[in-house]
Amino acid sequence: MTHIPLAVMPHIGGWHLASWRRPASQASRSWDPYLWIDLARAAERAKFDAIFFGDQYSLIPVPEHLRPNTARMGSWDALVISTAIAAQTSKVGIVATAFTEFVAPYAMARQFATLDHISAGRVAWNVVTSGTPGDQRNFSSKPLADPVSRYERAAEYVDVVKGLWDSWEDDAVINDRESGVFFDAGKLHKLDHHGKHFDITGPLNVARPVQGYPVIAQAGGSGPGKQLAGSIGELLFTPLSGTAAAAYCAEVREIAGNAGRKPGEIIVLAQLTPIVGKTREEAEEKWRWLQSKLPEELLRQPIELMLGGVDLAEFSPDTLITDLELSGGIEGFRNAVLSYRNADGSVPTIAELLRGYRGPGTVVGSAEDIADYMELEVAGGCCDGFLLLLHGVPEDFEDFCELVVPELRKRGRFRSEYDDDGTLRGRLGLQRPANRHGCPV
Ligand SMILES: Cc1cc2nc3c(=O)[nH]c(=O)nc-3n(C[C@H](O)[C@H](O)[C@H](O)COP(=O)(O)O)c2cc1C
Repeated sequence: MTHIPLAVMPHIGGWHLASWRRPASQASRSWDPYLWIDLARAAERAKFDAIFFGDQYSLIPVPEHLRPNTARMGSWDALVISTAIAAQTSKVGIVATAFTEFVAPYAMARQFATLDHISAGRVAWNVVTSGTPGDQRNFSSKPLADPVSRYERAAEYVDVVKGLWDSWEDDAVINDRESGVFFDAGKLHKLDHHGKHFDITGPLNVARPVQGYPVIAQAGGSGPGKQLAGSIGELLFTPLSGTAAAAYCAEVREIAGNAGRKPGEIIVLAQLTPIVGKTREEAEEKWRWLQSKLPEELLRQPIELMLGGVDLAEFSPDTLITDLELSGGIEGFRNAVLSYRNADGSVPTIAELLRGYRGPGTVVGSAEDIADYMELEVAGGCCDGFLLLLHGVPEDFEDFCELVVPELRKRGRFRSEYDDDGTLRGRLGLQRPANRHGCPV
């Protein structure tokens, strides 16, 4: 039995919009960096593969009159908080989200190279083209480009960044005090890239990252997003579960195969949002409590948001969700909602969706229930491992570590010690990429 890779993704104010109202919630400490540093340390104690920082350039869209009832105030700059985490931990991997639309590639290459050195090779870059129209409005008055153009630009962007990371060969420094030669001039390379979107001379003024390249993470769910994920992504995230997730895995692995990549070069983590109790009933009670604290409009909001900002109240509650003609928002999240089925397998109406759907990867139950779910999803080819989104920070993580991690270990599905070379690549079994200028791996 192999270990199941696990990462954790905390959100400011928690994922569930009512979690800040729990007595144990630490949401009022959201801007205290030690809340997140302690969480990263807890992830390291529990031997998690990685902690993941998402990012966004705007507030989550909720009805303005209800915003003061939520604690989802925003997001740390993922690269900056990741740097603090890197300095305060020594083993756990760190996945930082950064946008190809908002930052110049040279700056991105420097920042991730710097962070990979600071963390001694524990970093992944979650390549996001752009979050939402709200993010774009805080960057430029131009509308968000269409996905095809965004991903085409992103492919060139990542290629340029990798080229910059290869500027210095690993053994460029000779440090020969006697002869007065510090580095071998033949091992420093300009990029001289002149492409459709970027003109960059190089070389990078930071040494090659410890991992060669930081691990490339990706979570695109649209057609062009999956193309990029399959062609360059190494650590992929999906909000899907069950057969929809299995179809996603098959598709990105096929794209990867067509690009000449091997199956082991891709690891898919599916979203898991656990509510765990000592018993199933205790977990269900936790869920009921959370839901009972939300006004009707906020109960619908996460689902409406994933469906692209649609107002479900405008449709008859008897409408089958497959009859909704929707195209807005993020395709992966839209598909996660639209692939929800009733317990008997039938397509739900809007009313049934609102009653029964708990969000992507939400599993409410005992440690055994959650471990069973995880094992079944992995065995069914739906994913290789999981990205935990926490309804409440940090209390749902504490519950997971206290209850589910021991259950997984009992089943031989999770490590008790780190036994890798200390880099995120080493931990995930990903090869260190060779330098394009011929440096040995
Ligand atoms: C687990 C997970 C985490 C994500 N985190 C972020 C994030 O932090 N910021 C963001 O803008 N998008 C995030 N996304 C959205 C995607 O990365 C991507 O931007 C989105 O899917 C749009 O691309 P697409 O049109 O190819 O789906 C996340 C998606 C998933 C599944």
